[in-house]
Amino acid sequence: MSYLRKNIADMAGYVPGFQPPDAVSWIKLNTNENPYPPSPQVIQAIQEATGDDLRKYPDAASRAGREAAAELYGYPVDWVIMANGSDELLNNLIRACAGEGEEIAYLHPSYSYYATLAGVQSAQVKTFALMESGEIKDLPERYTGKLFFLTNPNAPLGLRWNVEEVAALADRCDGLLVVDEAYADFAADNCLELVRQKPNVVVTRTLSKSYSLAGMRLGLAIARPEIIAALDKIRDHYNLDRLAQAAIAAALIDQDYFQSCVERICATREWFAAELEKLGYHVIPSSANYLFASPSDRNGKRVYEALYQRKILVRYFNDPALTHGLRISIGTREEMEKIVQALSAIG
Ligand SMILES: Cc1ncc(COP(=O)(O)O)c(C=O)c1O
Repeated sequence: MSYLRKNIADMAGYVPGFQPPDAVSWIKLNTNENPYPPSPQVIQAIQEATGDDLRKYPDAASRAGREAAAELYGYPVDWVIMANGSDELLNNLIRACAGEGEEIAYLHPSYSYYATLAGVQSAQVKTFALMESGEIKDLPERYTGKLFFLTNPNAPLGLRWNVEEVAALADRCDGLLVVDEAYADFAADNCLELVRQKPNVVVTRTLSKSYSLAGMRLGLAIARPEIIAALDKIRDHYNLDRLAQAAIAAALIDQDYFQSCVERICATREWFAAELEKLGYHVIPSSANYLFASPSDRNGKRVYEALYQRKILVRYFNDPALTHGLRISIGTREEMEKIVQALSAIG
């Protein structure tokens, strides 16, 4: 007899990107982290928060961070919620909307964690195939499921849909359209304004990538107050600790530092894409801090292994839709020069 629910006993867990224990000796381009440190103002805010106050619980409403986000994105505070990483929001959105046997949808390929979350919930999953051109196969005129996750820009391909396209998708969904904008800060545009226009749109963001704070676990969502209120009921009441709350407010306020890091990463991305093309790679135009690129023999694993031997980590997906290529995070210009040299030697 098992003590576990059958779906939990039967499901496979999510497998995060590999974090090598001896990280310093690797060029690590496998989990879309930011190669630059967090803003000095963030470090200072965290240091200032590490005093006697740590014996007290943090602000359960994460007000400082919510106010900073509300100001930055132009929404009232009750349209904003903070989370311990945007993964927490994705989890709570599915818990709020889809019960056992109810259906949710997402594109394939996209963020594979949605499948795990649906599995925990015993929700049904419908996937729609995404082509490298951006075309979505077999999308019905109306999608009647409870929730649709749209990773925009798409992970791992990097392509994106513009606001009009996402608005049209929202109109076709009976349920919630969750626009997972983990990488939107690296794109020319985003869907924040749709939250005001479409009652069923929620936008989620993370500070893991564009704000260099993956280690702090910080995310947020913008949605209508009634949806925020529902998410508020579900979350752990102290989901952001004191250090995280200090960090998120300081990070969102220091926009100059944020902008300069994002600009450098986007410039490196364009340079790297051109170098890959010179090496004969097929590169999907990317609006994120990574590129999906395939060698001419379409053997992603061969290149992954050869890079691994040289202590360069990139992401290879053992998924028939993705085995022909690799997802390569954008590091510093120096790191990308090293990978270009390695790829040119590997052939
Ligand atoms: C598409 C997408 N959404 C969400 C996340 C989760 O981000 P966080 O670190 O905020 O939990 C990731 C992380 O890799 C991601 O790729």
